[in-house]
Amino acid sequence: MDTNEELLTSLTADNTLTGRTALVTGSSGGIGEAIARVLAASGAEVIVSGRDADRAQGVVDAIVKADGRAHALTADLGAEPPEIRAFARRAEDTLGGRVDILVNNAGVYPGFLTESVTDEEMQALWATNIRAPHVLVAELAPRMAERQSGAIVNIGSWMARVGVPYKALYPATKAAVEQLTRAWAAEYGPRGVRVNTVAPGATATRGTSTSADQLTEMTKGTPAGSPVRPIDIAYAVRFLASDEAAFIHGATLDVDGGIAATRLR
Ligand SMILES: NC(=O)c1ccc[n+]([C@@H]2O[C@H](COP(=O)([O-])OP(=O)(O)OC[C@H]3O[C@@H](n4cnc5c(N)ncnc54)[C@H](OP(=O)(O)O)[C@@H]3O)[C@@H](O)[C@H]2O)c1
Repeated sequence: MDTNEELLTSLTADNTLTGRTALVTGSSGGIGEAIARVLAASGAEVIVSGRDADRAQGVVDAIVKADGRAHALTADLGAEPPEIRAFARRAEDTLGGRVDILVNNAGVYPGFLTESVTDEEMQALWATNIRAPHVLVAELAPRMAERQSGAIVNIGSWMARVGVPYKALYPATKAAVEQLTRAWAAEYGPRGVRVNTVAPGATATRGTSTSADQLTEMTKGTPAGSPVRPIDIAYAVRFLASDEAAFIHGATLDVDGGIAATRLR
């Protein structure tokens, strides 16, 4: 099977999203990078973002090298709401005044056992995984609704609907993301803005690189039998952002190799 990077460097260009603009949070690496590169290959003009400017620029360079359009913007999504609002406005300005597609991907997953989670980790989980998407939607969805057109894809997690004996708070933030998705679909859907979630399974990224063995162990009993590749998540996001998904509102699409639905052993 081709690796994630091989697939990302050999993407076939198409016009699925030509003329659209997209803001992908946390796209300087991991799943977000794959999403940014796939959306750009399908014609979208993309904002690549993260805290580290060099990493974001590296992804922009890869997109431009493949004849796509992208811009790097840095932001700390764990920051206070006024900074997130300013980031949303910078993204709109950079994209010519319009964000058509918002992908709330940036997320953190610190902590392990409940009693060991620090106050800082609790704060980061709330601020990055729930508050920042909420602020970005509050800022950008009303203007999508004015145009009667927009797509928001939130990145959830397979862990949101399964009890596991570790990381209790992280999946709770992702369960909140799924519920926000349903509520936002009800709130903005009638005005032309579709809101959906993609829920990844255990995926090999920089963020999970220190637990690569654990990922292999976790996924070997699933139907897919191996960790998810970031590009697999990106294909699902592209679909939900596209007109092909015109009648999909408030859904959660599991792209998890079957880990949440099955227990083969
Ligand atoms: N990997 C998995 O197994 C898995 C499974 C289910 C769901 N997910 C979800 O998928 C999403 C992406 O995960 P990933 O594994 O790709 O993560 P990752 O490898 O750790 O990458 C995270 C990305 O987000 C950025 N980021 C992190 N914290 C940020 C902050 N405070 N402000 C702005 N940008 C920030 C990082 O860039 P900088 O470091 O430059 O800021 C990077 O671009 C997350 O929402 C995660 O919860 C992941």
